[in-house]
Formats: sequence, C-alpha cells, structure tokens
Amino acid sequence: MAHSILSVADISSDEMEKIFSRSLKIKRQLKNHESVHVLKNKVVGLLFEKPSTRTRTSFQTAALRLGGEAVYLPSSELQLSRGEPIKDTARILGSYLDAIIARVYSHQTVTDLARYSNIPVFNGLSDLEHPTQVVCDLFTVREVKKHLEGLTLAFIGDGNNVSNSLLLGTALTGMNMNLACPEGYDPNGTILKKAEKIAAETGSKLRIVRNPTQAAKDADILYTDVWVSMGQENEREERLHTFKGYQINADLLALAAKDAVVMHCLPAHRGLEITDDVIEGDQSIVWAQGENKLYGAIGLFDFYLGGTQDEI
Ligand code: CP
Ligand code: NVA
Repeated sequence: MAHSILSVADISSDEMEKIFSRSLKIKRQLKNHESVHVLKNKVVGLLFEKPSTRTRTSFQTAALRLGGEAVYLPSSELQLSRGEPIKDTARILGSYLDAIIARVYSHQTVTDLARYSNIPVFNGLSDLEHPTQVVCDLFTVREVKKHLEGLTLAFIGDGNNVSNSLLLGTALTGMNMNLACPEGYDPNGTILKKAEKIAAETGSKLRIVRNPTQAAKDADILYTDVWVSMGQENEREERLHTFKGYQINADLLALAAKDAVVMHCLPAHRGLEITDDVIEGDQSIVWAQGENKLYGAIGLFDFYLGGTQDEI
C-alpha cells in the first residue's frame, strides 16, 4: 500500500524535519521567483466532503506551483452523493490520479480511500485528525522560534481533531503540550495514549487540565480552534455555553511567556474562542500560520510525491 498521511503518527520525527527543510527551501525559491517542477506530469485530486478555504486552496496551489495539476472533487458532485461506495470510488480515482487530498466527516473514509486507491492519501481533516494542518503549524513555529524541542504549546478549547494532531505533533518533535478543555471534551483516548508513548521516547510532556490559566502559564505558544467543529452544528448552543471560559484573550496571554505567540488554525470566531485584539495583536502569528498552509503542503508534496525523499 502506498504511504499515506492519515495521522501525524504516519510521519517519523526524522521525516518531519526533512519536510520542514523542503518547505523552507522551496518557500525561498518560490519567493525568489524560481521555478520548481517536482510534480511535473503528476495529477492530484482534492476530494472534499466539507467546506474549506485554506486546505483546499493551499494544496491546489501547491500542486500548480510545483508544476503538477489538481482536480477539485467535491463529494456532492461525485456519485458518492448518490450512494456509490467509497471503496469503488477509491479504486477508480487511484487508477487516474497520483495522490488524493481528502477532507471527510468520518476518519474511516480516509482509511478506506488509502486502502482501496493504492495511491498516497493526505488527510486534509477528518473527525479524528487534521495532520496536514499540524505539519504546517509546526513548520511555522520552527520558523518563528528557530527550534521546537522544549517549547510549550498551550491549547485552549475543544479536544478535537486539531488538538489530537497537535498532541501527536508536539510529542514527536519533543515539545510540551498543555491542553485545557472542559470535562467531556477531552481529546481522543487512543490518540492520547499513542502521543504519550511517543512523548516517553522524545522527553515531551503532555498534560490535560481543566483550567485555561493553568495551561497558559509560561507557555511559549497559545493555540485555539473553533468551539463548534464542522458537523457539530446541532450542539452549537450547548458548546457556546460550555466553552465560555476557554477563550484566548489579553488576560490569558499575559500569563504566558513574555515572547509567547498566538496561533489559530482558522476560521476564527472573534469574541468566542479568541478576542479581536489578540488575533490582530503583535503576538499573533496567525497570518504567517495561514500562509504556511501553502508551504507545508508544498513540503509534503515534494517529500512524498516529488521523488526527493531518497535524496535528502
Ligand atoms: N485551517 C483549515 O483547515 O482551514 P480551512 O477549513 O479553510 O481549510
Ligand atoms: N476543528 C475544526 C477545524 C477547522 C479547520 C473543524 O473540524 O471544523
């Protein structure tokens, strides 16, 4: 089976470093108006069951910038929407394309896509993980802070797909992570166990706490995500109530390290999980983070599809 990135755990720490170095190298080349053609003659498909601004556009642009082609495949316009099984769809797409970037409701869908397509599948968000996001995010932290090991990331909010991938990503890179979430909104138990196992090897420390101030104290990075993820719209009222204290605001930021930075995977809801003054403030690296969705996607494509994996 082709190597797919369905989870952050599908990337080794060594590979992660190499992806960062490819992202950085090609970022510089593209900013210098140099051409990079590592995806020449390659066609990737973007199978999306949910809306997306960044993930879709960044992967699509990444393929084009690297000299390849990208086909957007919203599931609503595929026979999937009329009941064709995912495994049949996967077999056919696998015979046309060189890779699939998929955004799905159920994580099982990306697993089935990878299994039956026999081409690399990049998980562009499922109910369980958002691994490609976290590759881009850690690339951003590394660019800003110049290293990752030993830094503490405090995630404030829901133990959701993004936080699950961050637990694995911080563990893998030797960072520490404090996750503050309300009771009943913990990260996935299996992922937490996996992350703790990796952390034991890398020296990373992972903590789940209830109190945002406890998580934020002396942290190097404050990170948040929406309180209501895609597909949870019917829980909106209850979630808005439960997550009320889990906001990144100036008071919380004041508890973090002096040179702490603020991150949000976006889309953001000002006044809910983050305040306007903080996301627009000097310590926010949210816009660099958003821009790096493109360069992270480029690094992933280059490393897994561009044939440079063996050269590094
Ligand atoms: N952060 C992120 O995945 O954004 P989109 O939903 O716009 O792709
Ligand atoms: N947790 C969010 C992330 C959006 C990029 C969601 O799943 O909707």
